[in-house]
Formats: sequence, C-alpha cells, structure tokens
Amino acid sequence: MACETLIVETHGAVGLIRLNRPQALNALNSTVLAELRQAYSAFHADDAIGAIVLTGSEKAFAAGADIKEMQPLDFADVYMGDFIGGWDEIARARKPVIAAVSGFALGGGCELAMMCDFIIAADTAKFGQPEITLGVIPGMGGSQRLTRAVGKAKAMDMVLTGRMMDAAEAERSGLVSRIVPADKLVDEALATAAKIASLSRPSVLMAKEAVNRALETTLEEGLRFERRLFHSLFATEDQKEGMAAFIEKRKPVFKNR
Ligand code: HXC
Repeated sequence: MACETLIVETHGAVGLIRLNRPQALNALNSTVLAELRQAYSAFHADDAIGAIVLTGSEKAFAAGADIKEMQPLDFADVYMGDFIGGWDEIARARKPVIAAVSGFALGGGCELAMMCDFIIAADTAKFGQPEITLGVIPGMGGSQRLTRAVGKAKAMDMVLTGRMMDAAEAERSGLVSRIVPADKLVDEALATAAKIASLSRPSVLMAKEAVNRALETTLEEGLRFERRLFHSLFATEDQKEGMAAFIEKRKPVFKNR
C-alpha cells in the first residue's frame, strides 16, 4: 500500500503500521486518518494477518491531532463534518492491535494508543492530554478511556492540567501493560503480536470482545456474555485440537475454525 503518512509492512502473520510524518511529530491529520482506515481495512480483510502493531517514531508515537489543520475550523465545520467521527472505526478494529509507544503520545496520540487493545511503552514514552492548554478538551476518547484506564484522580490531574506522565507512572497507573528499552520496542511488540497471531483466531477475537465488554456493562451481564462465548468455542475444531494437543504433549495446529 503506497502511503504518504504511514509505512505499512507485514511480518509473518503480523501487520505493522508506522505513523510517518516526522516533520510534524506524527500529528494526526485527515490524511493519516484516511490512510490508517485503509491499512486497517486491508489487514482485516487479509486472513493471513492475525494481529496488528501500531507504532510511531523514536521521538513520537503521535503529538496529537494536527493543530494547524484544526485551528481555522469553526463549530459548523466540526459538527456538520462530524470531525473525529472517522476515528470510531479505528477503535472498533476486530483483530487485536498493540500500540508500541516511544516518545510523545499526546492528545489524539494518547487517545489513539488507548484505542488499541494494549500499550507497550518504551522507557522514553510520555503520555498526556494537553488539549486544555489549547482551549479545548480531549475529543477522541481521552476523558473516557483514560479515566477507565487510570481512574478519576490521575485522569482529572492530567486532563485539567495537561501534564505528561512518563512511562514508569503510566505503568504504575495501569495505562500501559509493560515497559521495554526503546531500542527493543518494535521487536517486543512484533513478538507479542506474533504470539497472539499464532493462537486460534476465534478464541482471540472472542477474548478481545469479552474483555472489552467488561468496560461497558454490569458484572452480571459481562459474566453471562463471557460464559456464552466460552460455550460457543466448544463448537470449534480448534477447541478439540488445542485440548488434544495438550493431552498428547504436542503443539496444536490451529485452523481458525
Ligand atoms: C501540528 C505539530 C503538533 C501537532 C508538533 N507539531 N505537534 N503540528 N499538530 N499536534 C509540529 C511543530 O509545530 C513543529 O513543526 C514540529 O512538529 C516539531 O515540534 P516542536 O514543537 O518543534 O518539537 P519539540 O520542541 O521537541 O516539542 C515536542 C512537543 C510539542 C512537546 C510534543 O511539539 C507539542 O507540545 N506539541 C503539541 C502537543 C499537543 O498540544 N497535542 C494535542 C493536540 S490537540 P515546525 O513546522 O514548527 O517545525 C488534540 C485533540 C485531539 O490532539 C482530539 C481531537 C481530534
């Protein structure tokens, strides 16, 4: 796929997308969104791809929505044009997406990382929602996803002051799943995604659905949903194969069926 703002590669069963607007610290403009949607859609259509890694550069995952593009817009422009609405499709990806964050993940950049299933951070990562310093507030989910990830106290602190969190604080707070040295970040994320891609696809997709449901419903409903998904996996060949392989002390050969 030829892109102006992304570098898209496949590594075995993993799709790798690198945001690539170095002159603007990967600020998210409409071209980035259009190209990301295209790349996501291509990876979702490709049965050979089992997981996706989304990353930026060493200096910045993304320094936010593009302020130069947003500055002249007025209310009618953003409301009638459903500005930001297109990002919902990115957040609804069915295949697992790992954000590999090095450097700045600010504003829309932090929000994009939080749309992914989990975040692996380089020790250089810095997260923040600085929109308040521009006279606005987070608009791509920051006030909601950050609060669910780190709780009200930290979310208020960050959203009201615009201060950044370093990688250690982000891990302590539950925003990132692990921290790795910056020079190992992409390899670690690719290896993690390859592990996920090697597993039975129906169980991976259902596991993702089940965990996401925990944030959207009551415990009772969530447990019922999980139980039904669990039951339904007994209709797959991969459940028979996975359990037989364990008993026979061999590696399973999953067919994603
Ligand atoms: C457009 C940006 C940008 C952004 C950086 N650049 N962030 N352009 N939109 N969000 C551009 C700069 O203008 C500059 O271009 C170049 O990238 C390098 O940035 P510098 O500021 O010179 O780098 P540095 O001094 O290292 O500072 C890094 C930084 C700073 C701390 C990350 O760039 C910064 O504060 N950026 C803005 C962060 C922010 O406020 N993000 C939230 C955006 S609002 P030139 O041409 O001057 O060299 C948002 C809303 C989301 O995200 C929800 C709605 C969609």
